[in-house]
Amino acid sequence: MTIYNHILTQDDFVGQDELSYPFEERGLQFGDGIYEVIRIYGGRYYLINEHVERLYRSAAAIKIQVPYKKEDLYAKLDELLEKNQVTGDAKVYLQITRGSAPRDHAFPDEIEANLYAYVKDLPRPEEKLKNGVTTITHDDVRWDWCYIKSLNLLGNVLAKQAAKEKDSYEAILHKDGEVTECSSSNAYLVKDGKVYTHPAKKNILHGCVRMRVEAFCQQENIEFIEETFSLEDLQDADEVFLSSSTSEVMPILKVDELIIADGKPGPVTRTLQKCYEQDAGLPEEACLFSTAAAE
Ligand code: PDD
Repeated sequence: MTIYNHILTQDDFVGQDELSYPFEERGLQFGDGIYEVIRIYGGRYYLINEHVERLYRSAAAIKIQVPYKKEDLYAKLDELLEKNQVTGDAKVYLQITRGSAPRDHAFPDEIEANLYAYVKDLPRPEEKLKNGVTTITHDDVRWDWCYIKSLNLLGNVLAKQAAKEKDSYEAILHKDGEVTECSSSNAYLVKDGKVYTHPAKKNILHGCVRMRVEAFCQQENIEFIEETFSLEDLQDADEVFLSSSTSEVMPILKVDELIIADGKPGPVTRTLQKCYEQDAGLPEEACLFSTAAAE
């Protein structure tokens, strides 16, 4: 999948070959930084405000100064798509680290943040959106501040790898049996037509798509309940699904050996998938869940 050549940095745009860092870089040595993954459909950002706001919140939480004023960052992100002539479905990966400095755990006195953002093609995972995915469960061994979208992802990486080794798409994370979220997405359970998900506390990432799922539920008169559910609750769930900028709203059909309900994507998940396509402004021919396509 193509990575487009023009890369945004804290100073301006560079070509891929021109981007280099000293090995004493705090993102590399400490994971001392933050990031965002922003979805693009048909060459246009989806939920850009939500991502930029969260980026600034994450930066403030770990005392990193974003090297651009907010309005300038918006302009640069637009320029990133223009310069690369992005017209299709893609994603932007943007990261900011505290900067480059001799290794020392404490922050150096004078340091400037390093930023890079690049665009990569990303088709929608159509087959999985239609047919659903399987998952495993995994201990949530991460730190307490998962609302910060930090580069420290070892807990997430190990959980995702465990899923991959079981031919599964995702790992549902739990603390003492209470589900928090997934390794790179938010997790939901549907029971009696109501959607349950972990409250937006400090121990989960406040997903941009999660915010939209809440809005879709409101719009569709589906009760959205921010209450933790347990691994046990999964036993008699009607539906389970996950959400993220790259996975959209994705049906989960199996958790470990447990088949959810009848093992097919359920009606509430389908409704939310339809809402997602409309919200993302997808053209009719690209929609998988419009009435015509669903029949
Ligand atoms: N992951 N929870 C975790 C731990 C995540 O890493 C993500 C996003 C989400 C969903 O957030 P959003 O709806 O804003 O994408 C929830 C991105 C896609 C990633 O790390 O690649």
